Amino acid sequence: MDSEQATGPGRSLRGRLRDAVHSTGYTAYGAGIGLLAAASLPFGIVVAVLWFLRVGRRLVLPSLAWLRWLSDLERERLRRLGYVVDEPLSPSGSPEEQAADPATRRELGWLVIHGTFGVFLGAVVVQLLLITVHDLAYPLWWQYVGVGEQELLNGLLPASSDSRALLGPLIAVIAFALWFVGAPRLLRWQAEPGLRLLGPPPGTDLSARVAQLTATRAAALDAHTVELRRIERALHDGAQNRVVGVAVLIGAARREVPRDPVRAEEILARAQDTTEDALAELRAVVRSILPPVLENRGLAGAVNALAADCAVPCTVTIDVPVRCPASVEATAYFVVAEALTNVSKHSRADRAEVEVRLDAGRLHVRVSDDGRGSADPADGTGLAGIIRRVEALDGRAWVTSPPGGPTEVGVELPCGS
Ligand SMILES: Nc1ncnc2c1ncn2[C@@H]1O[C@H](COP(=O)(O)OP(=O)(O)OP(=O)(O)O)[C@@H](O)[C@H]1O
Ligand SMILES: [Mg+2]
Repeated sequence: MDSEQATGPGRSLRGRLRDAVHSTGYTAYGAGIGLLAAASLPFGIVVAVLWFLRVGRRLVLPSLAWLRWLSDLERERLRRLGYVVDEPLSPSGSPEEQAADPATRRELGWLVIHGTFGVFLGAVVVQLLLITVHDLAYPLWWQYVGVGEQELLNGLLPASSDSRALLGPLIAVIAFALWFVGAPRLLRWQAEPGLRLLGPPPGTDLSARVAQLTATRAAALDAHTVELRRIERALHDGAQNRVVGVAVLIGAARREVPRDPVRAEEILARAQDTTEDALAELRAVVRSILPPVLENRGLAGAVNALAADCAVPCTVTIDVPVRCPASVEATAYFVVAEALTNVSKHSRADRAEVEVRLDAGRLHVRVSDDGRGSADPADGTGLAGIIRRVEALDGRAWVTSPPGGPTEVGVELPCGS
């Protein structure tokens, strides 16, 4: 990320004046971003303290999203200035993981520096221009403003006589020269923290990412094989067994027809029941591949249906304005289904909450309850299955469940939009 503005001695006076005006506009804009950063600092401290006291966890993700938005504003400003600023990999995962991400820490560092030093530099540049205009017109003001109000107009030097008032234009010339020479330089100083801290961390190499993608690709293939095996077992042990039973029963019925038609009738009735069981099993297998409710009612309808079936009262918040790829919707559905089954089976909770939200091209799913906590993916296959499925789609999954609760199962899936 580098760019050098042409401010060398060879530039024409007009070009340099244009530079100074341009720099003033951008330092003032930078100072505006800096003021937002400065205003965020006290909030950041309050959120950190609340989190430390274990009550502010819910505020962490919105605060980090705000930090990211401000950093993006600065990245955009730097790009407009001609610098190349690469985006670091977006932090994802639980609030703890996102807060510990090096990119977040670097953005926080930028926030502190830009909210103080950046605002100061912007104020200096704008102030120099204001002093120029103010002090240039100073003798005029001194002439026409009433005696009692002259004090109010005093610039850098208090004027007490006509001859001293003439010092004003002299100061204006000095302020102008400082502004003219200094504005582009101060703009570069103001940009420096963003250039150093808002790109990817130095030494970021893509090999870790490649290793992660290779692992998740293997996990995807594994998950696919496991899924095929599950379907094969379900068909083999369920529907196929029943169809074999039907064939045997029909054979027996045919043998009975000449000898004992009543008995043949009974056997055929059993064959019919077994056929219906086989059909039910087939439907269950089909539903487990891609739940039709997803196809018919979309993710929102499907999740609401799951929440309505939950044994614990459950509130649902869904903010997904567009449809996601079928594999993502199916995974989100299975996550909510498994997490809510766990809430009913294990949590002893009074209330549960499901939140599904599409944000910056990623689908966030959160299922929480106020139950007994201590959920552990190592104790069963459900939570581990969620993690495996989600990682296979290059997403992130986490379970936070301290003893005594609350329990939260969170998932983030890239949605490709
Ligand atoms: N919401 C919850 N509240 C409390 N404990 C939970 C919760 N969810 C899961 N657990 C605990 O974590 C364990 C692991 O859950 P997991 O879903 O992996 O397995 P399971 O539900 O026991 O079996 P299955 O493989 O059928 O899902 C559970 O046995 C249970 O003790
Ligand atoms: Mg389970």
